[in-house]
Amino acid sequence: MRTELSFTSLAQIETELLAVTATDTQTAKGPDVRPEPVLLTSDEKVRAAAAAVLVSGEYKAGSNETVLLHAPAGLKAKRLLIVGLGKKGKATVNTVRNAAGTAVRYTKPRAIRELVFALPEPPSELGLTLPEASCARAAVEGAFIGDFDPDTYRSQRKDVSVQSFAVSAPAASDQHTVQKAFSEGVVVGECQNFARSLVNEPGNKLTPTVLGQRAAQMASETGLKSEVYSADKLHELKMGAFWSVSQGSAEPPALIVLKYEPEGVLDGPVLGLVGKGITFDTGGISIKPADNMEKMKYDMAGGAAMIGAMRAIALLKPKVRVIGIVCAAENMPDGKAQKPGDVQTAMSIAPDKPGKTIEIINTDAEGRLVLADGLTYARSLGATHLIDAATLTGACVVALGMINAGAFSNDDATFEKFQSALATSGEKFWRMPLSDEYYDMIRSDIGDIKNTGGRWGGAITAAEFLHAFAEDTPWIHLDIAGLAWIEENKPFIAKGPSGVAVRSVLEWVRSYEGSSL
Ligand code: BES
Ligand code: MN
Ligand code: ZN
Repeated sequence: MRTELSFTSLAQIETELLAVTATDTQTAKGPDVRPEPVLLTSDEKVRAAAAAVLVSGEYKAGSNETVLLHAPAGLKAKRLLIVGLGKKGKATVNTVRNAAGTAVRYTKPRAIRELVFALPEPPSELGLTLPEASCARAAVEGAFIGDFDPDTYRSQRKDVSVQSFAVSAPAASDQHTVQKAFSEGVVVGECQNFARSLVNEPGNKLTPTVLGQRAAQMASETGLKSEVYSADKLHELKMGAFWSVSQGSAEPPALIVLKYEPEGVLDGPVLGLVGKGITFDTGGISIKPADNMEKMKYDMAGGAAMIGAMRAIALLKPKVRVIGIVCAAENMPDGKAQKPGDVQTAMSIAPDKPGKTIEIINTDAEGRLVLADGLTYARSLGATHLIDAATLTGACVVALGMINAGAFSNDDATFEKFQSALATSGEKFWRMPLSDEYYDMIRSDIGDIKNTGGRWGGAITAAEFLHAFAEDTPWIHLDIAGLAWIEENKPFIAKGPSGVAVRSVLEWVRSYEGSSL
């Protein structure tokens, strides 16, 4: 998808489709109350062209509600699409991201190959603040997100992709700032889609080895350092937890290491991004039921999010050092697979300290095993702050549904930076608790720690398991099991892989730019 930013007056734009936003300013409620949609543009000609439909009462400007006008009078555009942001109080940068996605997904199946999206320019009497730069970034992100469809293996795939997406910003805006934000949005949108394309791949096509190749190729294209190791390295590093998951698969594991080392940055924090990369999770010997098992190809979504975030970091070049680690393996049942009751020894952080011993209660709790060694490895490489992302527990989905992902942290200051990052990313994470009482639930009788703590508080005991390996290093854990795969089509995003966490992890990383320890 080509992208472009212009500051031309809307009525003058020659295009197949011009999309403008609207909001409903009606505050009264009741059966006879009519909507009062207002177009978010100061362009008189556009307002005039839309006037009739806005007063008709047929269009409410509900969120992502659309209405299309052909040959709009007084405009050079062939079509005018109005996209609703919902009630006035709901009109935010986030709803603008979705509106742009809606415009793209409206356009795509109709074989219209280009569109121009007008940034909202609310009439001053509305008292709405929608900063142009943030909206420009969000709009182009939303366009990329909307442009993605998961049907890559259809033999008769219809070529319906949008070829050109332009954003039109008010001429009076700070053009340099808007341009910069717009260019960032292009990178972020592409990187989120890159992560989604990895998650979309089936387990037979995207093995741990192939995921390693994709990451290495991305690294060479963007100037990151990369190394992809396999079983030998796991043995050398004594990563007994990670290895135990891969030992039942014919596919070798991949330890993917990506390094971003900006020139001239020799001190300050080193951020460690660790992702769960289970390319298929059968559950192992504690095998999962057949229903929905096919979905477990997305069990590498945390790893893909980190690879996507590393790509964005490589291109946006924040002044902070970052290491990305993805622990990729396939969790399979086999004669060689690990069994419940087995005891594994995890990687040790120091030669004089023995690695923690883990009693395997359930081989389906494999994500925490690979991440345990991934977190330790990140610390051994010098990470001062850690963030991990994983489709870790069904329990997190039970707790938060598919609306919020879970977030955990052992350090309030570190978490606050993540919370601020969410304001930019627009993603929804909800902080969940950690405490010693939860840790007590995963103490083992035979060894140090067991890999499940039973049904209750399952997302939290999983997080406590990881906490035992992050130890005192400031750390954030993101459980994205409920948000990494979208079950139903929405006006602004196709069902399938969401790419959740790419934007938030990126913004968290950028918040450390130039900071000292
Ligand atoms: N990959 C799953 C978690 C998952 C569940 C992700 C649903 C996405 C959707 C994970 O490896 C797993 O199997 N977790 C178990 C843990 C249990 C055995 C303690 C779970 O959640 O049931
Ligand atoms: Mn599992
Ligand atoms: Zn899993």
